[in-house]
Amino acid sequence: MSAKSIFIVQVLATSALFTAVAAATSPVAAQAALPVKPPAIAQTCTACHGAKGISSTRNTPSLAGQPDIFTQYQLVFMRDGGRQPGVMQAIVKNLTDDNIRDLGAYYAALPPPPALATKSEVAIDTEKVTGLLTSRHCDSCHKPDFAGQGESARLAGQRPEYLKKALIDFRTGMRRGRGMGAMIEVSVTLHEQEIDMIAAYLARKP
Ligand code: HEC
Ligand code: HEC
Repeated sequence: MSAKSIFIVQVLATSALFTAVAAATSPVAAQAALPVKPPAIAQTCTACHGAKGISSTRNTPSLAGQPDIFTQYQLVFMRDGGRQPGVMQAIVKNLTDDNIRDLGAYYAALPPPPALATKSEVAIDTEKVTGLLTSRHCDSCHKPDFAGQGESARLAGQRPEYLKKALIDFRTGMRRGRGMGAMIEVSVTLHEQEIDMIAAYLARKP
């Protein structure tokens, strides 16, 4: 990690703490996210991530409703080499710290993707899937409604094949993630069929 990215990560960590303190003292302000004008740079993201941050492209995540800090961290990781940027390589390497801050705030303020309404190809055994999630404390980081918080992603309403890809990428160590390798630890013991069921369940979560 470059000195510059260590700096931005420290700034992010401090601002996350500040947000937590502010939220504790003013719950009303914390609940009502104000609309944010799209930064000009967001135009370059819409072809893949959708006009309002809701993706209709396979293996491409929706960004709308993701916690501000989560989006900022992922963009820093992809820019600085901590996460493989794939097809985003050319775009992400030119993002400035200001761009990243603007994009984090913008996507966090957009309405999240609606729960997937189509019937699942995988049979979802709700009791089994909640057991898998509860025993691994997924809700303690991602919140009980899976709306995400801080550096932990929103999972509710995300595209199922992307949720699956992300879990497989953590399981194989291709994606390391934040949180002291927590995502590797929780995914390594999951079988592929369990991952399929978790992905199908979370994509349908409102
Ligand atoms: C050419 C298509 C393309 C463009 C353009 C693009 N992205 Fe992406 N983006 C992707 C794909 C595909 C992934 C998933 C990468 C993976 O599988 O790890 C991704 C992942 C992400 C993630 C990680 C989200 C998550 O839930 O893990 C963020 C954040 C993101 N993009 C933001 C942006 C922003 C902001 C822009 C514009 C500045 C942008 N992307 C432009 C295709 C694109
Ligand atoms: C200790 C906290 C913690 C626990 C427990 C946890 N997660 Fe995560 N999760 C995270 C963090 C932090 C990230 C962002 C990782 C990164 O930086 O790439 C993440 C990322 C993810 C992603 C990728 C989302 C995206 O859009 O890129 C998925 C999917 C996911 N978690 C699912 C789960 C599931 C399912 C469980 C339980 C089996 C779980 N997580 C348990 C903290 C946690």
